[in-house]
Amino acid sequence: MEPIPVLKGRRILLGVTGGIAAYKAADLASKLTQAGALVDVVLTEAAARFVTPLTFQALTGRPVYGDLWTPTAETALLHVALAEAAELVVIAPATADFIARQALGLANDLLSALCLATRAPVLIAPAMDVQMWAHPATQENVERLRQRGVEVVGPAYGRMASGLEGWGRMVEPEALLGHIRRALGRRGPLAGRRVVVTAGPTYEPIDPVRFIGNRSSGKQGFALAQAALDRGADVVLIAGPVALATPVGARRIDVGTAAEMAEAVWREAEEADVLLMAAAVADYRPAQPHPVKIKKGAPLTLDLVPTVDILEGLAARRAAPGRPRVVVGFAAETEALVENARAKLLAKGLDLIAANDVTEPGAGFATDTNRITLIDARGQVETLPLMSKAAVAEALLDRVVALLEEKAKAP
Ligand code: CTP
Repeated sequence: MEPIPVLKGRRILLGVTGGIAAYKAADLASKLTQAGALVDVVLTEAAARFVTPLTFQALTGRPVYGDLWTPTAETALLHVALAEAAELVVIAPATADFIARQALGLANDLLSALCLATRAPVLIAPAMDVQMWAHPATQENVERLRQRGVEVVGPAYGRMASGLEGWGRMVEPEALLGHIRRALGRRGPLAGRRVVVTAGPTYEPIDPVRFIGNRSSGKQGFALAQAALDRGADVVLIAGPVALATPVGARRIDVGTAAEMAEAVWREAEEADVLLMAAAVADYRPAQPHPVKIKKGAPLTLDLVPTVDILEGLAARRAAPGRPRVVVGFAAETEALVENARAKLLAKGLDLIAANDVTEPGAGFATDTNRITLIDARGQVETLPLMSKAAVAEALLDRVVALLEEKAKAP
């Protein structure tokens, strides 16, 4: 896992309480550490029976705490020192017992004491057996925590250690990571801004079972949505037919055809500050989709007509209140990269265009990496090295933040 800028150098206190899902907390600690976070782990006595402190120490490379009475190098008491250092407190898994103690405001071990002492946001991932979760006592306690501003993530539905099926499983570490990114990004440079991102291909129906599409995976668009979320933006993700997980916090709108995407983009763009048009929109569609499945046999000619150009349509609508203030397009090219991309930037009224040569190895469709060339409205050209789509998204969002600031200063 590569470093994640919103997590890099951030102090996260991971509290682990005593349930079988504690083993998943080890995975979470590992992921957070690999992403660059500084993870201080606090185990309750019961948690240490499921997973040893040594496991967490090896994964985080940092001391692990369990006892309220350990003397620290600093003069502050341990629970106060940890509580103050934390930018975010994550309790995963949170047992019914721990939730009950929190609801009461008890402070009878290190973890519960520091939860009272901290001013950092607190996120809990409950995990317990189905009946325990459903019990009115637990539900009341969770509700109390929610009302105090604690973010409760899960539990998820599934098979429990007891063999029962129902609500009570801890949310997977990967998904928790999304919630943690969201919590830490909340006051980022795009806080209060709305960013609309399009991703994936469009499918243009030939008949009820066939379509014209393209090889776009949607990965770059989804990475852009995540990078915008990490900077605190409200994100609307308009996705073509791809089966990728929605980044935590994004509002996803699924579309099929170019016409559906156009309608969604034009509607959402009215309220948006930024549009990132990463989708690979089909340029042609069958003029008349067959109402029933076409039977094989005779040679077949399809009549194709151009689809609507979403960005051009937007440029025409954009004039009045100037929304979105920043529009970024993508250009998939197989030759004359810069010239073709610059022509698109002008024709579509863009502030920035990210061009890639889709014939190059490791760039473009269905890979995890990309090499892009950025061209702005002033004609400046910058070629980024081959990097992951996540890193491309980070670089692009940094440019978007700078563009928004420039525009805010302009008369
Ligand atoms: N785009 C769009 N509407 C379309 C086609 C493309 O809004 N009907 C957007 C894409 O999302 C991308 C940009 O326009 O941000 C450039 O897309 P690209 O496919 O590279 O260019 P086209 O305009 O389709 O031109 P061509 O296929 O001839 O290269």
